Amino acid sequence: MSAAQDVVPLARPVLGEAEERAVLEVLRSGQLSLGPRVPAFEEAFAARLSVAHASAVSSGTAGLHLALRAVGVTDGDEVVTSPFSFVASANSCLFERARPVFADIDPLTLNLDPQAAAAAVSERTTALLPVHIFGYPADLPAFEALGLPIVEDACEALGAVHADGTPVGGRGHPAVFGFYANKQLTTGEGGMLTTSLAAVKEQVDSERNQGRAPDMGWLDHDRLGFNYRLSDVACAIGIAQLDRLDEMLERRARVAARYREALAGLEGLGLPCEDTRGDRRGWFVFVVQVPAGGPPRDEVVLGLREHGVQSKPYLPAIHLMSFYRERFGHREGEFPVCEDIAARSVALPFFPEMTDGQVERVATALRAVLEPA
Ligand SMILES: Cc1ncc(COP(=O)(O)O)c(C=O)c1O
Repeated sequence: MSAAQDVVPLARPVLGEAEERAVLEVLRSGQLSLGPRVPAFEEAFAARLSVAHASAVSSGTAGLHLALRAVGVTDGDEVVTSPFSFVASANSCLFERARPVFADIDPLTLNLDPQAAAAAVSERTTALLPVHIFGYPADLPAFEALGLPIVEDACEALGAVHADGTPVGGRGHPAVFGFYANKQLTTGEGGMLTTSLAAVKEQVDSERNQGRAPDMGWLDHDRLGFNYRLSDVACAIGIAQLDRLDEMLERRARVAARYREALAGLEGLGLPCEDTRGDRRGWFVFVVQVPAGGPPRDEVVLGLREHGVQSKPYLPAIHLMSFYRERFGHREGEFPVCEDIAARSVALPFFPEMTDGQVERVATALRAVLEPA
């Protein structure tokens, strides 16, 4: 890397004066938590997804935990889910002492394969937990046909749309979004659970707030609860981010299109799938698979670093993580599609304000690493 060149970062949120003003207003109001910004953010988010209810929570992980409780997942149950996800989707089953049962993924969309999921259903299965990985809609109609309760991990999928026009997270199943700093919309940390059912919202709102019912005084709690609340400061940032969401999503899509052009000539490189069958991706990350038989993925990550380009292996297969191997005895070879994709996947720099010049730099660096002269 030449000294004059800046490092191209992996991700960078878009935050501006609107967010600053919003935060200042909350600070000056003195009401930092359990204030009016929470329902305001929830209502704006629900309206955006044309879904009846939304509940703000402290993280995507917290939302997944409450969503699984809301569909009744409990001790000894099995939940069929994807091994190609961020670890929190599987972990959230363990919080309720249920077992995440993995099934292989579709090699094109990288989402849980409905046929493999159907084959993994047993008498103990009480829910399905598809993940809209990298913002690409999972095949919800196929999962719905299996007739089991569904929780959607939509943490990476804000802005994605199903072929029938339903926004991801708007089909009525408890669906959970994440607002960590690399996401399409960020509140620093945070999440949102959407649902069509008032009863689910009521349960989630109580359980995120120490098990307190809306009409109860501070000190009476009629069920087990957690502290999974999102602060008013975070919700105020979320409202400001929602106002600029369309623009941020458009910019991400434009950067993705630039990447496609710039990387087109790299032989054997796996690119994110194009939108197919009417499903539309909500762009979150730009993840490629290094060519089979070429330099190993980890060497590619190191090579890119030498060219001043941040990247990371993304995502590792959950079942091969040491905790999952030890706890459940998982081994290589169980989910071959997932294992091959996970071993070759690398996330490239991707953020709304990425310039064409930065995309070119990444492409040039990747070419130099994959096809050294
Ligand atoms: C697919 C997926 N599920 C769950 C999560 C967990 O979200 P959070 O980090 O907000 O707890 C993430 C976030 O990184 C994710 O990408």
